[in-house]
Amino acid sequence: MSHVHQAQSLLETKKKKVRRRLTPWVTVTGGKGGVGKTLISVNLATLTARAGHRTLLLDLDPGLANLDVHLRLAPRFTIEDLAEGRCALDEALIDGPFGMSVLCGQSGSTRLAGGDLEFIDKVMAAAERAARKFDVVICDTGAGIGPSVIRAAKRAHLTLAVTNPDPGSITDTYALCKLLLGTNTAEPQLVVNRVRNREDAMRVGARFAAVCKKFLNQKMPLIGWLLADPEIERSVSLQKPFVLSGSGAAMEDLQALTAAALSNLPAVKRSKRPPGKALKSRSIRRNLR
Ligand SMILES: Nc1ncnc2c1ncn2[C@@H]1O[C@H](COP(=O)(O)OP(=O)(O)OP(=O)(O)O)[C@@H](O)[C@H]1O
Ligand SMILES: [Mg+2]
Repeated sequence: MSHVHQAQSLLETKKKKVRRRLTPWVTVTGGKGGVGKTLISVNLATLTARAGHRTLLLDLDPGLANLDVHLRLAPRFTIEDLAEGRCALDEALIDGPFGMSVLCGQSGSTRLAGGDLEFIDKVMAAAERAARKFDVVICDTGAGIGPSVIRAAKRAHLTLAVTNPDPGSITDTYALCKLLLGTNTAEPQLVVNRVRNREDAMRVGARFAAVCKKFLNQKMPLIGWLLADPEIERSVSLQKPFVLSGSGAAMEDLQALTAAALSNLPAVKRSKRPPGKALKSRSIRRNLR
């Protein structure tokens, strides 16, 4: 092995070691708008928090940041305020179900949506500082293949690529996966949302995997799926995560997806704090400063 190769391989090993020490992070992406990225992020985070992990739900959708709408929250500050030093971390974090914390995004942010890479790095650094206080991060992103999506996917230990069964959304998600597979990110895994049944999900998953194998020579595992369910739509109108009161097959789908996602991460800690207890108790507030 040449000296250059030796140095490169040492650097890679070092990077891997650093990565292992970072808070486990799931990024939820999808090529097309409206496929259910935010819905899946919110419900995944809720079930993760319910399982006793200190969970940070992070909104990195620069265009239509709307975690606050899904959870009926009224944030005073956003991740951008945090990145710019306009607030402290505990002022930016809002309590969500089962003691999870939510770091909201700035809807209509032109700086994050545009190509301001320096600013995106600043936001990612703020997110990283926040992540250190948690056992696991679930990060919602916007549609498409903008630089903030790529950065969020590069940070992730697991990237979920959400698609619907329709050809338009499959094509867009394929374009996104092609781009992600070409960068230095963890291999994305497919989630098929709004399926009629399990067979529907299997069919889309198998077709997607075959195309990725043929044209990209890459695996594209199907990590989970979610039934189209009017109760899910209702939960969005009520601004309450479906899993808080959901039942039936859609609930089982989300439970299976959460279990699969957590098992694809490096060991996720379980904090001593019992689930359901708000993070912002006085003592924890002090620690966050
Ligand atoms: N499995 C489902 N069953 C029924 N309705 C669903 C399901 N998944 C998503 N929806 C509906 O689709 C809408 C869009 O979902 P969501 O906001 O999560 O999409 P998104 O991918 O985050 O969109 P954007 O790209 O605009 O951020 C939701 O308001 C919800 O009503
Ligand atoms: Mg969304």
